[in-house]
Amino acid sequence: MAFEPSQPLREYTEKLIPRYPQKRSAIMMILHFIQREQGFISLEAQEWVAAQLDLQPIQVREVVTFYPFYREHPVGKKFIRVCRTLSCALNGGYKVCDKFLAEFDAKLGHTSPDGRVTVEFAECLASCGTAPVAMIDDDLYENLTEDKVKELCDRIKAEVPAETPAPAADTHHH
Ligand code: FES
Repeated sequence: MAFEPSQPLREYTEKLIPRYPQKRSAIMMILHFIQREQGFISLEAQEWVAAQLDLQPIQVREVVTFYPFYREHPVGKKFIRVCRTLSCALNGGYKVCDKFLAEFDAKLGHTSPDGRVTVEFAECLASCGTAPVAMIDDDLYENLTEDKVKELCDRIKAEVPAETPAPAADTHHH
């Protein structure tokens, strides 16, 4: 399925690209915009970006896969990363992760059934003094306990509507 850029994305790229002597210099900005809008950058979106910048899709893909903050696959509305490096691991990081997973009935690295969250482990988030820590999207949460995780999860549940599960493929014809 071809990628349909949103109106804001179209306007953004139209303004942005002429500001660079070389079109391709706009690549990071455009990828950020798409990821912010869609949560990830699909192969179709990468093709669209390539076409805007006179690049080959593989050149866009190299950028997307090189930087760990770009994602090619959909994630939950909130992206939770729990540090599991030494200080955090020793201070309960694994328990914190289990608590997040249990609250959303999620499996590590997979989007929860309600579409609200994706929980992954991360390596040291440079906040070892306040271990254990986790990032929810761009925000850092420190000195986590199971109770604090529960509070954060309750807040997410209140703020982020559950996605209704996609209807099963229509197999029952009469
Ligand atoms: S070990 Fe977790 S932030 Fe450094």
